[in-house]
Amino acid sequence: MTTTTQLNPFACGWFQVDYSDQLRRGEVRPFQAFDREFVLWRDEDGNPHLMDAFCRHLGTHLGYGGRVQGNRIQCPFHGWCFDGSGACAEIPYSPEARLENRGLGTLPLVERNGLLFAWWHPHGKAPDYALPVIDECQDSQWSRYYRHAWTVPTVWYEIQENIVDSTHFHYLHGVNSLAEVKRCDGDGPILDVDIHHQFKTPDGVCPGFIQTTLYGPYFALVRFRIGDLAEILFIDGITVRGERELELNFSLMARLSGVQSPDMSLELVNEAIRQVSEDVPIWRHKARWERPSLAAGDGPIMKFRRWAAQFTPIAGKTTANPLELIHV
Ligand code: FES
Ligand SMILES: [Fe+2]
Repeated sequence: MTTTTQLNPFACGWFQVDYSDQLRRGEVRPFQAFDREFVLWRDEDGNPHLMDAFCRHLGTHLGYGGRVQGNRIQCPFHGWCFDGSGACAEIPYSPEARLENRGLGTLPLVERNGLLFAWWHPHGKAPDYALPVIDECQDSQWSRYYRHAWTVPTVWYEIQENIVDSTHFHYLHGVNSLAEVKRCDGDGPILDVDIHHQFKTPDGVCPGFIQTTLYGPYFALVRFRIGDLAEILFIDGITVRGERELELNFSLMARLSGVQSPDMSLELVNEAIRQVSEDVPIWRHKARWERPSLAAGDGPIMKFRRWAAQFTPIAGKTTANPLELIHV
């Protein structure tokens, strides 16, 4: 009998929260991820924070009407104040009250490459890998980010499995040749995938290279180069909202000098967006087979799934193979 299988849709890892320039000093905003409510805010020193939304007093959602006061956030209902560590810092009408055990949970947050990423682990385990610094963000040879986002009713591993699914580039996206997977190597939470294609260009057929490094489930850094003609790189950053709902965010940069055809770099930005827009209806409607009927020539689908399984914490620890444990 054929069944569908789900890896944990709420895998642990660094996940995209927002762009840095979308959160001003003093701003407070509700934020949803992993079927939970959070409050996202930036203090007046410029430090961003993501913490549990509901005030420990009577449960007000701090994302609606919470106010930044210096480096604290103040609840609108009765004025309790919390600092960036989540600790209750003041109950203004009750100066003698003990403040311990009145705080809120916070998620580790990093601000890097113009983006905010937070660390999710359902049992509060500390981050065990880091996100890379992307030097090209500071390099004048490269454009600033082109931003594109899709809301898709699916799970993170469907999105990322696309990276190793080498045959779909030809059949779904119309890439000239069948792709060759030159490398698919996992090292703990990191997965490196190199794919080569042949691309039709106005100068004839050119070799194309897609190098992807996944840092955990929700962050991929992709470099896409066509010979010496053109190059882009992009971050594929996922925000999981619910069990079957996520946002896929692409932050794309085009190489505008140091290549023969900067215009083609810009075209590649649009090409990457076009390709994902073709994937979306597939993701939206597809089933997921636990044991897919693979054929010679398919990409390393099962290798990807074994790598993906490590991010599924069950009963407080990381399981070796939840493919066998979780059935729907
Ligand atoms: S509910 Fe937040 S201070 Fe009362
Ligand atoms: Fe695709």
